[in-house]
Amino acid sequence: MSAFAYRSGALFAESVPLARIAAEVGTPAYVYSSGALESAWRGFADALAGMKVTICFALKANSNLAVIRTFALQGAGADVVSAGELERALAAGVPADKIVYSGVGKTEAEMAAALAAGIMQFNVESEPELAALSKVAAGRGQVASIALRMNPDVDAQTHAKITTGRAHNKFGIAAERIPAVYAHASKLPGIKPVGLAVHIGSQLTDLEPFRLAFRRTAETVRALRAAGLNVRRLDLGGGLGVTYRAEVPLRPADYAAVLRAATQGLDCTLVIEPGRALVAEAGVLLTRVIYVKDADGKEGGRRFVIIDAAMNDLIRPMLYDAWHPVRPVTEPASGAPLAVVDLVGPICESGDTFALDRPMPPISAGDLLVIEAAGAYGAVMASGYNSRPLVPEVMVKGGEYAVVRPRQPILDVIGQERLPEWLHAGPP
Ligand code: LLP
Repeated sequence: MSAFAYRSGALFAESVPLARIAAEVGTPAYVYSSGALESAWRGFADALAGMKVTICFALKANSNLAVIRTFALQGAGADVVSAGELERALAAGVPADKIVYSGVGKTEAEMAAALAAGIMQFNVESEPELAALSKVAAGRGQVASIALRMNPDVDAQTHAKITTGRAHNKFGIAAERIPAVYAHASKLPGIKPVGLAVHIGSQLTDLEPFRLAFRRTAETVRALRAAGLNVRRLDLGGGLGVTYRAEVPLRPADYAAVLRAATQGLDCTLVIEPGRALVAEAGVLLTRVIYVKDADGKEGGRRFVIIDAAMNDLIRPMLYDAWHPVRPVTEPASGAPLAVVDLVGPICESGDTFALDRPMPPISAGDLLVIEAAGAYGAVMASGYNSRPLVPEVMVKGGEYAVVRPRQPILDVIGQERLPEWLHAGPP
């Protein structure tokens, strides 16, 4: 059962009415269900039971400390892509030896921070990065365990902006070059190659691209071993899609079967880096309708439902034309008539929309709505555009809730800024 469901006509997050959160915390606000996070985690953990695999939650999907900690308490590792995410993982209690560090542009300062923390592995994406890591690690008298990220040139059949495994994408090292780079890495000071990493994209709804990519990875492992190189760990990335509209999500059990088949006989320990599939459906963006505006001033024309959330709070519809479900917090009467509306935010850009031509039950100013499946790549991608402070994040557990990030006071935001001396004087 979904963690967000109607009870006696009102939408609840677990056992807390969303209207209560709106009244007490205000809108817009992200609301997460702790139970939904845990059950998504269990879905993976159960499917992978018996395999030697570390599940490293990709923090980029949702890096709120309370979310990371919820997973850490279940035994999760973390996939981080910046010194900031590394700090968050450690602060949330993820053991350093379960942290992998991905990304094409790690700086030397970030490498040093990760070495100081004692992370499990760097996923190295280029030869210049390898040289830099060797210099930093050797300079510190440390040895960095690395996996080379291979670019398998596989089409993940997802949105172009989140496809990462094609030859023309900026990620990884071409499969043909891997043996030479791996051999070179094994001779570098401060570097210990332990395996390969691969990640082909996000929001995949078909297993075939995974199969292809994993097969190419396994072939490369065999080639490396034939050349006398030691390979013992495979990081097979994230990418499992969820249901936003009518997508049939990949079941962790089917994904696990693909992992098993692809890695059978290789005798490698595995790492996976799911992000979206662990958090997307565990979060909603709670928002209030400010105005309902009929473009022609009368019914029957284009109708805009203007809400207090905007593209700066949730940018996925604007950036990827993403479709998110929207529901009223008060359950519509059964058989309520549907009218087609555009659900838009207050920002001065026409792209600030959440849903176009969406059939919705009757909606009035003041009503509460939820934009669903907003737990992944929602709050983490928010900005302060239009001087709209970051919105609160709330976590619900059973009948209680906690504000896990308060609303940012605008005066704090402005207070971060400094006037240069030449602007101190008042106007003449
Ligand atoms: N590992 C690596 C190396 C990645 O680049 C990503 C996502 C993941 C793991 C996690 O993938 P997931 O399981 O979440 O699909 N902002 C976009 C998604 C960007 C994904 C970037 N990389 C969106 O809102 O759809």
